[in-house]
Amino acid sequence: MSNDEPGSSSEAPDPTAILSVRDLTVDFPTDDGVVQAVRGVSWDVHEGEVLAIAGESGSGKSVSVLAAMGLLPPNARVSGSISHRGQELLGMPEKQLEQLRGSAMSMVFQDPMTSLNPVMSVGEQIAEGVRVHQKLKRQESIRRAAELLDLVGIADSTRRVDSYPHELSGGMRQRAMIAMAIANDPDVLIADEPTTALDVTIQAQILDVLERARQAVDSALILITHDLGVVARTAHRLFVMYAGRTAETGLIDDVFEHPTHPYTAGLLAAIPRLDTPRGRRLIPIEGSPPSMLSPPPGCAFTPRCPRATDICPQNPPPPLTLISPPSQHAACHHPLIHPRTDSPSQQTPGEAPDA
Ligand SMILES: Nc1ncnc2c1ncn2[C@@H]1O[C@H](COP(=O)(O)OP(=O)(O)O)[C@@H](O)[C@H]1O
Ligand SMILES: [Mg+2]
Repeated sequence: MSNDEPGSSSEAPDPTAILSVRDLTVDFPTDDGVVQAVRGVSWDVHEGEVLAIAGESGSGKSVSVLAAMGLLPPNARVSGSISHRGQELLGMPEKQLEQLRGSAMSMVFQDPMTSLNPVMSVGEQIAEGVRVHQKLKRQESIRRAAELLDLVGIADSTRRVDSYPHELSGGMRQRAMIAMAIANDPDVLIADEPTTALDVTIQAQILDVLERARQAVDSALILITHDLGVVARTAHRLFVMYAGRTAETGLIDDVFEHPTHPYTAGLLAAIPRLDTPRGRRLIPIEGSPPSMLSPPPGCAFTPRCPRATDICPQNPPPPLTLISPPSQHAACHHPLIHPRTDSPSQQTPGEAPDA
């Protein structure tokens, strides 16, 4: 298969990608059975690119990136391939992974309090992170911390370096986390629901800060979210997960314009938009995702899907297939095929989008 067809499990890692994930599977054996958290996903993120990974809670977004960071609990069973600039990360010795974490790859979590040390000033924490990976004197590293706090919009940064995490607001703490994440000039930054725990009024600011930080170090960004509204402005490409599998991938503008997977269409219909007439209710997708302890044998979206037919509960979704050129791939028995003015032949009889 060609490189134009992301997600095919037979494909080799993309040598031009910074992070290339192939056929990643993650299981967790538990007392109740095996949780099949991630079931064969593949994606790439390239230099300077913003890749959004979206899907409802429990779809396997965090587990996929934690696998890339080598941060899964020891009982996790991981297979497939995750390569960073051509170097395989699965099975890499912990010492070597530690070197990569915090320098080449770094991560911002939903709740900064879980990653910040409560008894150390934020400046000292950033400075310490800098000194672990760079040969800087203490004074220089503190100065660097202040510069980074300045960059993420923390005013009066030379004084703020001495603040403890509890002295900062939630938004300020997330800014400090972003400063820490870029301190060692990573080439891929991973932000897992970075605005979910924050007040809606500051979510947009934090997304702007993240983008500013990304540009400052010229890294790629993987932005994870359950809310497609969050990624519209920031992301270049979108990767939609459902029940541990890929539902759809494509350039963000293409997917937003005409989603090809019914699940993506459902997610998009639930985003508040400026042009939504007042009083018109947004339609969330009814029902909820399946338990990953015993996911159904066919397409897991079937019970919630307006396009499902008899084959859907019986057969797993087909491999990701190019549905709408140039960028959109979906794994669906009945994708939405949109008539395009530039390529009318794309429309298959009986598969026209629902009105
Ligand atoms: N350590 C673990 N042990 C067992 N199950 C887990 C563990 N971590 C995650 N899971 C399960 O894996 C699935 C995917 O989780 P996750 O990747 O966190 O979802 P999300 O898309 O919300 O980030 C969920 O069903 C979750 O309950
Ligand atoms: Mg998560």
